[in-house]
Order: sequence, then C-alpha cells, then structure tokens
Amino acid sequence: MDWNSSLIKNLEWSDKIINLAGKQKVADEIAAKVKDGDILGVGSGSTSYLALIAIANRIREEKLNVKAIPTSLEISMFCSKLGVPLTTLYENKPDWLFDGADEVDPNNSLIKGRGGAMFKEKLLIASSEVSYIIVDDSKMVPKLCTNFPIPVEVFPQALLYVERELRALGADSLALRPAKGKDGPVITENGNIILDCMFDEVGHSLERDIKSITGVIESGLFIGYNLHILMASNT
Ligand code: A5P
Repeated sequence: MDWNSSLIKNLEWSDKIINLAGKQKVADEIAAKVKDGDILGVGSGSTSYLALIAIANRIREEKLNVKAIPTSLEISMFCSKLGVPLTTLYENKPDWLFDGADEVDPNNSLIKGRGGAMFKEKLLIASSEVSYIIVDDSKMVPKLCTNFPIPVEVFPQALLYVERELRALGADSLALRPAKGKDGPVITENGNIILDCMFDEVGHSLERDIKSITGVIESGLFIGYNLHILMASNT
C-alpha cells in the first residue's frame, strides 16, 4: 500500500551545493566502485548526497543488490527517496563507506560534524573496512581548527561539567550550537546538544582526551584513521 504522500519523493538538498561540478566528478568515481552485494556506509552532507544519487542510478540501471547503512536521518530519507534499500549495523558490517569532511590536515586527520551527525559518522567509519572521504580544496587546511570548530556531542545535563573539562584541555572558545527552525540549541538525533570548540593546538591525543570526559558522547575529531581522501577539483 502507498502513503500517497510526496514528502519524501519531493525532498531536495536544502542549500546551495558549492563546487557542484568537482563534487559530481568524484561522486561518479565513488559510484563506479560499487559492486553487486556491497553493504555501504553512507555519510551525511551535500557531497555524500551527490555520491548517493550516482550510486542510486547504478543500482537502478544495473539492478544491483546493494544495501546502505545511513549515518543520519537526513541521508536515510534520501536513500528512501532514491530507492536505495537500507539495513542496520545489527544485520550487516559495511564493506566500505563514503562521506565528506569539514577540514582535512596534511596527516589526513579530519574535523566533521557541521551537520551534527558525527557520532554515527564515526561509528560507521570505525565499522567499515575502507572509508573514502570526499573533499574539495576549500577543506584542506595546514592545521585543524583553521576554519571549523571541533563539534562535541554532550549529554545535556553534563553541559557545564564538560565545558570546564574542555577548557582544561585547551578549548579557547566554546559555543552551544543554536538550532535553526527551533528555539534553543540543536538537539542531535541522539537527544543531545553540541558544543562547537576552537582549539589553538590539536594534539595527537586530543580526540581521546575529549572522549574520556564523562558526558561526552563523541566529537567530530578524527585523528589517525585509515582514510582514503578523494579530491574534488574546482576546475
Ligand atoms: C555531517 O555531519 C558532516 O560531517 C559532513 O560530512 C561534512 O560537514 C561535509 O559536508 P559537505 O559535504 O556538505 O561539505
């Protein structure tokens, strides 16, 4: 039976996608990697969205048996719209994953989480055999925290304790991420809030140090992961 609704069918990306041509080219490269039977971890954000469209086209045209494990509600709705079957981490382990990033440093360490989905993004990157991160030149930085803060997902009642501990780790500016379309802070898909933190220095142990604070669910800092960075050229 059909819901007779166009809400999912008519979903579109909510913002302007910058460097569309470059991202499209890498989206096609990602889609070309898909094999029949693959379980895919699907990242969040505009770059992942474009790759998902290219993959959905291959699934439809070649009748591929592929399943996706989405990193956010946003991308799971796009999977539904595009006819990409979903599965979960209870049933499957991803063969590989694709995602975007907000910053990449010369060691391939990342900041992610502009879209607030960093907990599940990290869970899926940790669960996947191979992870492809698609970025354009604007995301390459000499050091992390150049343009983007590190987002930290926090259990709401732990906010002030976590703030104190983050400052002790060297966070010099912290902001509670405000919601758009709702009064008050962003509430994550896990029912938590986000502190966006700028650090002058992002040392090798910072990801682990942040994670060890009671009340921190996860951060958008990725240090020392085995990632394949794919560049979407601007030309
Ligand atoms: C989502 O939480 C983020 O980690 C995105 O993957 C990241 O912000 C990149 O987004 P764009 O592909 O839209 O730049």
